[in-house]
Amino acid sequence: MKIVAILGSISEKSNNKKLANFIKKRYKDKFEIEILSLENIPMYNEDIELDPPNVVKEVKNKVKESDGVIIVTPEYNHSIPGVLKNTLDWFSRVERAMVNKPTMIVGAATGMLGTVKAQMHLRQILNSGGVAALTLPRNEVFIGNIEDKLDENENLIDEPTIEVLDKTVSNFVEWIEKMK
Ligand SMILES: Cc1cc2nc3c(=O)[nH]c(=O)nc-3n(C[C@H](O)[C@H](O)[C@H](O)COP(=O)(O)O)c2cc1C
Repeated sequence: MKIVAILGSISEKSNNKKLANFIKKRYKDKFEIEILSLENIPMYNEDIELDPPNVVKEVKNKVKESDGVIIVTPEYNHSIPGVLKNTLDWFSRVERAMVNKPTMIVGAATGMLGTVKAQMHLRQILNSGGVAALTLPRNEVFIGNIEDKLDENENLIDEPTIEVLDKTVSNFVEWIEKMK
């Protein structure tokens, strides 16, 4: 199974990047995962959407060819980071990359609420006519106080959080298989 992870943070020291790497390592027997960084994605512009820069074409193709997407994102000011929204805007136009794409959401924040508000917005965006992704129902992964839950090797060490992640990933994989 081919999964693409879309990272909502472009920070080199990103906690969500550490989390995406942890997911890649821990579930390597369940799927092959490529982590996409959004740092080189230009701002969406309708004037060039029919022939966008190659970097946009490349990420769209990777998403289109995948069996599913995991979005791993922080919350910025009670919503999703601009880089993620911008990328979803590109995905929503012309050859739409995420239509009916099984999608799971994971988010980590340094605060207590673990990206609850961002994920509510994200689900709304993913449900728009242009993006039209299929989001894994019922399962939600909110990781608060992330800095206390990662060790010096960038591994998640909080057992209850790992349990939720294990269950959610397993539900995600089963859900994709069922829909095939
Ligand atoms: C611009 C900005 C806005 C933020 N807004 C929120 C917020 O609304 N809610 C929250 O829980 N954390 C917020 N934070 C703190 C992030 O949870 C924390 O910086 C997190 O580590 C960012 O994710 P990253 O390390 O993957 O880049 C914000 C951080 C930044 C830089």
